Amino acid sequence: MKFFVDTADVKEIRELNDLGLLDGVTTNPSLILKSGGKIDEVTRQICEIVKGPVSAEVTATEYSEMMQQAKVLAKIADNVCIKVPLTLDGLKACKAIRSEGRLVNVTLCFSANQALLAAKAGATFISPFVGRIDDIGIDGMELIEEIKTIYDNYAFETEILVASVRTVNHVKQAALIGADVVTAPPATLKALVKHPLTDKGLDQFLADWAKTGQSIG
Ligand code: E4P
Repeated sequence: MKFFVDTADVKEIRELNDLGLLDGVTTNPSLILKSGGKIDEVTRQICEIVKGPVSAEVTATEYSEMMQQAKVLAKIADNVCIKVPLTLDGLKACKAIRSEGRLVNVTLCFSANQALLAAKAGATFISPFVGRIDDIGIDGMELIEEIKTIYDNYAFETEILVASVRTVNHVKQAALIGADVVTAPPATLKALVKHPLTDKGLDQFLADWAKTGQSIG
């Protein structure tokens, strides 16, 4: 399973990339706002750090304007993945951008039928937002199961990119279902390593080692 980080914070991205944990990055207009930077400059910096797909989202809602924005974003770097919303215009843009050989991430997916449409439009990635579905009292991971079944039924090549991840449990469930990618905030990715028994065991080993009076090397 691939790990993308869901942030436009260049410092956090550099830190996670140095740990060898990153396969890609997702951004959106809200994350660009949070970064305080300009979309072209921030995206350029991220693409220099991470060689995998870096999603940058169009903000137009009409097809031809989306295509113009996609052209601008695509010029930033070869690994820019154009993110389009799950609307009829977005799906039309997805098909057109894919025919030009670019990666496309179709975002704001909240139903299996929407995911089916994105796959038919040739999306590279579909981004179902599990956390936002949980927020309205429905199990977001059930949508991942449905999309996985549908994509397997028809051997669609679109990768399931589990988005709006809020907990380490979302990551585990996505892996159990067989999703291709999770995109998670930096803190959630770092929390995957945590276990109290690991900390306790390490403390014990270090204490016993100190008692031996030995050193290695
Ligand atoms: C990723 O592509 C999405 O933009 C992101 O995961 C949304 O997450 P949120 O629901 O926490 O804003």
